[in-house]
Amino acid sequence: MAWWKNSIVYQIYPRSFADGNNDGVGDIPGIIERIPYLAELGVDVVWLSPVYRSPMDDNGYDISDYQDIHPEFGTMQDFDRMLETMHQYGIRLIMDLVVNHSSDEHSWFTMAREGRDSPTRDYYIWRDPAPNGGPPNNWTSFFSGSAWEFDESSGQYYLHLFSKKQPDLNWENPELRQRIWEMMRWWLDRGVDGFRMDVINLISKTPGLPDGVVGDSPLVGTEHYVNGPRFLEFMDEMQREVLGKYETITVGELIDGTRDRALELTRPELERLNMIFTFEHVMVDHGPRGKYDPVPFDPARLRSVLYTWQREVAREGWNSLYLSNHDQPRHVSRYGNDQTYWAESAKLWALVLHGLRGTPYVYQGEEIGMTNYPFTSIDQFRDIEALNAYDAMRNEYGMSDEEALRRLNAHSRDHARTPVQWQADMEEVFPHPWIAVNPNATAVNVQSQLKDSNSVWELYRRAIGYRSELPVLTGDWSAMAEDHPGAFVFARSCDDQLLLVLANPTDDAIELDLATGDFPSGWEQLVAEVNPRLILSSVQDMRELPRAVSFEPARVVLQPWEAAWLLWDRR
Ligand code: NOJ
Repeated sequence: MAWWKNSIVYQIYPRSFADGNNDGVGDIPGIIERIPYLAELGVDVVWLSPVYRSPMDDNGYDISDYQDIHPEFGTMQDFDRMLETMHQYGIRLIMDLVVNHSSDEHSWFTMAREGRDSPTRDYYIWRDPAPNGGPPNNWTSFFSGSAWEFDESSGQYYLHLFSKKQPDLNWENPELRQRIWEMMRWWLDRGVDGFRMDVINLISKTPGLPDGVVGDSPLVGTEHYVNGPRFLEFMDEMQREVLGKYETITVGELIDGTRDRALELTRPELERLNMIFTFEHVMVDHGPRGKYDPVPFDPARLRSVLYTWQREVAREGWNSLYLSNHDQPRHVSRYGNDQTYWAESAKLWALVLHGLRGTPYVYQGEEIGMTNYPFTSIDQFRDIEALNAYDAMRNEYGMSDEEALRRLNAHSRDHARTPVQWQADMEEVFPHPWIAVNPNATAVNVQSQLKDSNSVWELYRRAIGYRSELPVLTGDWSAMAEDHPGAFVFARSCDDQLLLVLANPTDDAIELDLATGDFPSGWEQLVAEVNPRLILSSVQDMRELPRAVSFEPARVVLQPWEAAWLLWDRR
């Protein structure tokens, strides 16, 4: 079995992780200091969001030099020291590969801008204006407005699916691809262990760049660049030129990733990617007009999406499992109850996610149950996507300030980007931060949870530990009690072990009737006759776990936000 199948990945968003030099911005020396912490949590792999040289228009997802470190984060020596230290602790490192676009301050682009004959002009996507002088087509940017920016000096427009400081690279150009392969090899030769590939399925665009269909969503044009015609060909070239020559771990971020597409990429025999990030399960509370059109969370909808991916992808291909990252609000606020049942709901989602088949990802701060930030004014936001969306909501859609703010509060990416709450007194470890510290750091912080053997942190540590200890967590997956309106009940099984995962993500107690016949075959009798061990729970005191408990399938009562892992072990 591939080693990453029973590993867990921890995501570091460097600006907000740890500040080593007290300048208010997280950095690599800060990360180095916290490597023992990551090892104690049981992390196998770190995914590091971009640390490359960047004007920081999109916090580093706009890269101006792929082979240098952004000075605010440190130096290349710091980087090498971090990599070496991680390896000493047995932690692998994957870098963010952002090659759908570069920064407009990358030398390729500044040179391209010099004129139509520039040697790197064709590394980007330039088009003449439409006959009316406007943009060449109707595509819109993920960050609001047109996806085209006019360049006065050459009289052409360039394409940018994200901010205008993130021009899209032209993957049709073979020389550009060679330069990307060289850069990837350079990092792998330096010792990094793989890549998380940013919006990788946007790299191929329909030739001729036709207009997109205008529908409900403000995003227009996706059918011409999501999984474009040459996408798989480019991925196969990447395999031949780079990945196939190294031992790597790879995860591709797939916009609108369908299940078929996931299999086309992650079936091991195809040798493309180890796993992908999909979005379907983090769009269950988006309305028809997208994320800033929030609708109430319905656990049954989330369950249905997660289960479909388990059924259709987890066996033949491989899933990555996540609820939070730097682009999503904090899931304990979004899918949990961060007031009355804060700890219980943080633990519950960990038990659901870490119980599924796939490779779990933990986003920094999730392991202590960090919550959304209580934004009250637009001045508190930093994210270009949020600021642009706010302007669009007010100016294009005529919304009031209050309404626009309410919508940002539902889904802004800045919720995830406040500094990691290391201790109650954050001024001491992250002074004058670039984005405010959540005021609840006084109560929700690493220092106090490390001392508490019943904390959210301790539950994560144990769940992570079981991933490598229990063979059943890489075994089969099967759903149960799907007729219930919202309970998550599923079984994991292998030759010797059966793990039953139960979760009630609501504020009310529920009762379930589980027919023994619904258990994986070969286990029915044992389940009826032998009591399992409760190994993890979101409501029981962890100091008393694991322990044997009585279990009556026909009458399972779950308290509000109760989740449990029950294990039958024949070994
Ligand atoms: C996806 C990244 O996760 C996000 O943070 C970024 O803004 C866009 N890609 C553009 O690179």
